[in-house]
Formats: sequence, structure tokens, C-alpha cells
Amino acid sequence: MTWRASILTLFPEMFPGPLGLSLAGRALAGGTWALDAHDIRSFATDRHRTVDDTPAGGGAGMVMRPDVLDTAIGGVMPEGDTRPLIYLTPRGRLLDQSMVRSLAEGPGCVLLCGRYEGIDQRVIDARDMVEVSIGDYVLSGGETAALVLLDACIRLLPGVMGAADSAAEESHGAEGLLEYPHYTRPAEWQGRTIPDVLLSGHHAEIARWRRAESEKITRERRPDLWARHDAMHGGAGAIARHPAAA
Ligand code: ADE
Repeated sequence: MTWRASILTLFPEMFPGPLGLSLAGRALAGGTWALDAHDIRSFATDRHRTVDDTPAGGGAGMVMRPDVLDTAIGGVMPEGDTRPLIYLTPRGRLLDQSMVRSLAEGPGCVLLCGRYEGIDQRVIDARDMVEVSIGDYVLSGGETAALVLLDACIRLLPGVMGAADSAAEESHGAEGLLEYPHYTRPAEWQGRTIPDVLLSGHHAEIARWRRAESEKITRERRPDLWARHDAMHGGAGAIARHPAAA
């Protein structure tokens, strides 16, 4: 079955955007996934097609109205649609590879992109939305976050990634480690060489070297990921193998 993404936005022209190109674009053209983007404004009922209003309690900015959003959601999610309804917001749960994996394994998703200060809490509650953030920074709207989330999911759909591009060893893979460094020809470039072991042809040693580099990079750059990986592998034992991390 086709993995389907429905987008609710004030800027439907932003889709598929970059996802119409390269790997995702080919998969879209080939029917591996499908996209429909809808203008929230087209669900407004007044003459001015109003989608927002001033915040209750005062303050800066505007808030998106619950009635217009609810009608829009009903318009793109038919009764019985089992896809998760995701509201992209900096206050949501942080997107990670395990969330991406489980979304990619499902039927698709409905993505609500907010603008202004936010959306009325009542429609978030009534529609049981999943609030998701792509990182601890604030974007001008949810659209670019939606593109990021979709990109991460689409590359995991069956047949999208080439065999050579296996997801098994990449960063945030099953082991929860960052990826080791890569090299290619020329063997020497600007006086810089390739680590000898990679040219040795000794597959077991190469695998050992790559694993050690992955662990070192993860420890140095992402102590949070390292702690999780370490716990997965018996905690103190792993620290004993790497005294510097203790
Ligand atoms: N909208 C604005 N900032 C965002 C973020 N960091 N993640 C998801 N949606 C957003």
C-alpha cells in the first residue's frame, strides 16, 4: 500500500519542494509514497477567509482558530483514517530515528504546519494530536519541519534506498552510534593520507577500526547518545574499555 502524507498548511506551494527531487522525488513519481497538500485557508468560512485571531488573555501574535483547523482536518482525514495526526511545534517531542522508523512502518501521516504564535489548545486535545519538534530552535513555521520529517521517513520506505545505502550502519542505526569517517581516492590529497588499515584488505581489522572510530566520535560529540549506548551494552563494562570516558 502507498505510504501517504497529507499536509495542512497556509503555504501548500512549499510541497513537495525538495522532496520532488532525487531519491524521494523518484519514489513519489513511482508511487512508493503519495503527497497531498491542502491550504488551511480554503476551509475558512467567512468572507475574509480568516484562519487566526488574537490570543485569549492578551499578548503578542495570533493564534490559529480551532473551528477552521478542525474542519480542515476532517476534510483530509476520512472516518477510519488510521494515520497519526502530527502537529509540528518547537514544544513537541523531539523527532529521533526510532520515531522516524515507526512512522515509516505505518500507513503514512497527516502533518499540521502551524504559523503565528500557535494553534488553539482545544483542537490539539480534541483531535489527540502528536506534537513533534525537529530540534531545539524556532522555525518560522512547521513547513520546513514537515519536509525534514518526511525526508527521514521516505528514505526508509521499502525500495527507496539503494542496497548499497543500507540503513544498518549509518548514524543513529541499531547500535545508537554516530558513523565512522569515510575516505576514497586519491590515496593522498593535499598531503593527507587514508588510514593504513582501510587499505590493508583485512576485513575484520577494518570493521574493528570503524567500530572504534564510531565509539570515539559518539563519546566525544554526543555524550547523551554514548550514555544510552553504554547502558545497552552493560554500562560500566564499556566505560572500563574506554577509561577516558569515565
Ligand atoms: N515550528 C517552529 N519551530 C519548529 C521546530 N523546531 N520543530 C517543529 N516545528 C516547528
